[in-house]
Amino acid sequence: MKNDENKTILALIASPRKLGNCEILAKEICRHVPQGHTLKLLRLPEKNILPCKACYACLENGKCPQKDDFLAVAREMAAADGLIIASPTYFMGPNGVLKVFLDRCLQMFGHSLSLRDKPAINIVTAGLEGEAGYTEAALNSFTLILGMKLQASGVFYGALPGESLWQKPEQQERIKDFGELLFAAPPQVSDPWRCPLCGSDTVQLLGGNRVQCQVCRNFGTLSVDDHGLVLATSLKPENIFFTAEQTEHHLQWLQEMKKRFLQVRRQLAEFQQQYADEGEWV
Ligand SMILES: Cc1cc2nc3c(=O)[nH]c(=O)nc-3n(C[C@H](O)[C@H](O)[C@H](O)COP(=O)(O)O)c2cc1C
Repeated sequence: MKNDENKTILALIASPRKLGNCEILAKEICRHVPQGHTLKLLRLPEKNILPCKACYACLENGKCPQKDDFLAVAREMAAADGLIIASPTYFMGPNGVLKVFLDRCLQMFGHSLSLRDKPAINIVTAGLEGEAGYTEAALNSFTLILGMKLQASGVFYGALPGESLWQKPEQQERIKDFGELLFAAPPQVSDPWRCPLCGSDTVQLLGGNRVQCQVCRNFGTLSVDDHGLVLATSLKPENIFFTAEQTEHHLQWLQEMKKRFLQVRRQLAEFQQQYADEGEWV
């Protein structure tokens, strides 16, 4: 990382709306970053990002067959000292443009372009209070899977472009903290109802008091004490992120999977063939 006066922050804006909520929130965050910095912005819908073909070629040779703007964007991300990823909520999740981009980041497992330990802030915009669905969890799990340091994340409401900050003093106040957090020491999780390992507030109920964190995928328990809910989670041994070793281990698993495919592909093809002529494609 460069010295305090010379940092580069890259804001990945997933919204197509110029001066929309994603864009102004990212810019507002940077107004409150105490370190000297240059803000670079990248509007994903203006880039040509093709979908992942699920060929796994990138895991063997680091090369993706899709010829588009992905690598240029990934290089900008890898070169930045800090990232802001801002997505609008579309149908309770991140918008499609961002999801297409995130899928392509599979190649970062086998790639020299690494985002490990890069400080990141995730911003979600949503039009209706309480209707942001799983968008924040989706962005945060992506950040953690690629080994970034998740410094802060949050949902900001406002349907019209700019409305997330316009006449919203509470949200104006809340966003200031995000700027201060980007290059700060990793924040400690203090709310007892959040996952102590990743800070997520999203769990799946598994029966009894067992739960699984939907962001870092670790298991734990949910209980109630005198003050309210208490979420306890512990690192599962086969975790696929958190450390560089675990990421390396996951890369090996992916590469083994590809080898296994090459070994059994004839038998698989025979099995698949029985479904080949069913239905009419439109
Ligand atoms: C296709 C589409 C789907 C949307 N779905 C949701 C939704 O599920 N929940 C919600 O709260 N807002 C939804 N919205 C509203 C946007 O999330 C909201 O306007 C947000 O502020 C857009 O951010 P932007 O200004 O950066 O584009 C949707 C908007 C569009 C265009």
